[in-house]
Amino acid sequence: MDARLAAVYERACTNCHDVAASGAPQRGDRAAWSPRAAAGLPALVASVRAGKGAMPPMGWCPECSDEDLAALIAHLQGSKAP
Ligand code: HEC
Repeated sequence: MDARLAAVYERACTNCHDVAASGAPQRGDRAAWSPRAAAGLPALVASVRAGKGAMPPMGWCPECSDEDLAALIAHLQGSKAP
């Protein structure tokens, strides 16, 4: 993940995905992510675009492209992002 996306992550995703009390699946929590990952990356990107449960549409990154979201999701899942 490059510096631009790292900054986006810090602004738009970390406040929920690194805060267990938010109810969001936590970064690097394989048990939380594996059932969601089974849906496939495009479905997860679509899910962030639309919003889900307590997550607003686009997380907090209205300007993110699908590629940005895919890289951020890979980071959340704990795998190596492009
Ligand atoms: C305001 C809190 C909040 C922010 C900000 C947020 N999320 Fe989430 N996110 C959640 C919550 C809560 C869930 C669980 C939703 C559910 O399953 O009910 C979730 C779920 C997800 C999922 C799984 C979706 C699915 O279909 O299971 C992905 C992927 C995701 N977030 C990515 C992101 C990314 C990428 C960002 C930053 C751009 C982000 N989130 C920002 C709260 C947040």
